[in-house]
Amino acid sequence: MTKPHTIGTPLSPSATKVMLLGSGELGKEVIIALQRLGVETIAVDRYPNAPGHQVAHHAHVINMADGAALRELIEQEQPDIVVPEIEAIATDQLVAIENEGLAQVIPTARAAQLTMNRQGIRCLAAETLALPTSSYAFADSLEELRAAVKNTIGYPCIVKPVMSSSGKGQSRINQIDDIESAWNIAASGSRVDQGRVIVEGVIEFDYEITLLTVRALNEQEEITTYFCEPIGHVQVNGDYVESWQPQQMSTLAQQRARDIAKKITDNLGGLGIFGVELFIKDDQVWFSEVSPRPHDTGMVTMCTQKQNEFELHARAILGLPVDTTLHTPGASAVIYGQLAATGIAFSDVNKALRVPQSTVRLFGKPESFKRRRMGVALANGQDTLQARKRAKTAASCVIPILSM
Ligand SMILES: Nc1ncnc2c1ncn2[C@@H]1O[C@H](COP(=O)(O)OP(=O)(O)OP(=O)(O)O)[C@@H](O)[C@H]1O
Ligand SMILES: [Mg+2]
Repeated sequence: MTKPHTIGTPLSPSATKVMLLGSGELGKEVIIALQRLGVETIAVDRYPNAPGHQVAHHAHVINMADGAALRELIEQEQPDIVVPEIEAIATDQLVAIENEGLAQVIPTARAAQLTMNRQGIRCLAAETLALPTSSYAFADSLEELRAAVKNTIGYPCIVKPVMSSSGKGQSRINQIDDIESAWNIAASGSRVDQGRVIVEGVIEFDYEITLLTVRALNEQEEITTYFCEPIGHVQVNGDYVESWQPQQMSTLAQQRARDIAKKITDNLGGLGIFGVELFIKDDQVWFSEVSPRPHDTGMVTMCTQKQNEFELHARAILGLPVDTTLHTPGASAVIYGQLAATGIAFSDVNKALRVPQSTVRLFGKPESFKRRRMGVALANGQDTLQARKRAKTAASCVIPILSM
């Protein structure tokens, strides 16, 4: 970018170029938001025709965990800004790229590096920043896991590979007999075959939230922290199935949630949106994890906020002003593939859209699996209760079918 707050013409020498590393449904929406601001977009993913590929100026297929391939592509495309959308990226290469001034990494290369590994972010949160978290320990073998459960964490507890997301490789240990299977589940669900797990004491929360937190420039050109209204959500096996906004909270719990979010995002630094995941019981708040990017549960903001989380991210990274105001309560409900096949179709979309104040996003993923997130239904209502009912009804109307 030549000058701050200046946006060039796409596909010309003046273009402002942004590269998305990961081009799933969240990246697709960030790209759409950037396109609307006249930014030239480059979508990268590990498979062809990913959702973001379908709406970007340029599309590339590479293994983003391969540092050499990542560098080669960045040198070739010369983006001004690189936006990680997934965790599984060669983040040491992002650190080098940032250090050499090749591109700006969102929010920072260090944030991408710390959050890709549960150990990095948990130690920062609990030990460096003294934020309240569940009890936790790390284990590199079944024996170490047994010892950690017996000596420090107790029952019930949750085991997760340190490198995984969307609940992959995660399971709960209720009794001694569950330990071995939890270890095996973690080994099979880890993104990188690293063999290390985190074991966490279970927090019996009343509800959990994502607090979308935006670091953006104010009128004085200072980085300022803005908060969205809390998003409540339901997770099944570590994967989000529905979300709503706003989630009612006590004043004290909301203040504590914001304090935690401010501390962790201040430390990670840079510009952009963060999804801060928190557990709440009465007025007590625990930090769970943070993603330095739009959050899947935040898709609800496509129907609730003046600027949804993707627009907020696009604006923040370009140094533009943001507005996190909520306009109407709403909810989202996931549409799953239900079938394992390529090129499926979705029938009865008309029925879904007859649900009052609803809409549907179909992501365009080329291949469907039973539990793959293929779309989302969004709905507004007088309150989140009505919105949740509508979103769930709309989602259930959409039927994945094998196309001829
Ligand atoms: N210590 C805990 N106590 C209680 N519930 C937990 C704990 N850890 C995880 N969970 C439950 O499992 C869900 C997923 O956990 P976590 O966010 O750590 O995994 P993830 O794989 O990163 O998921 P995602 O990528 O979808 O955010 C949480 O949202 C929460 O519902
Ligand atoms: Mg999570």
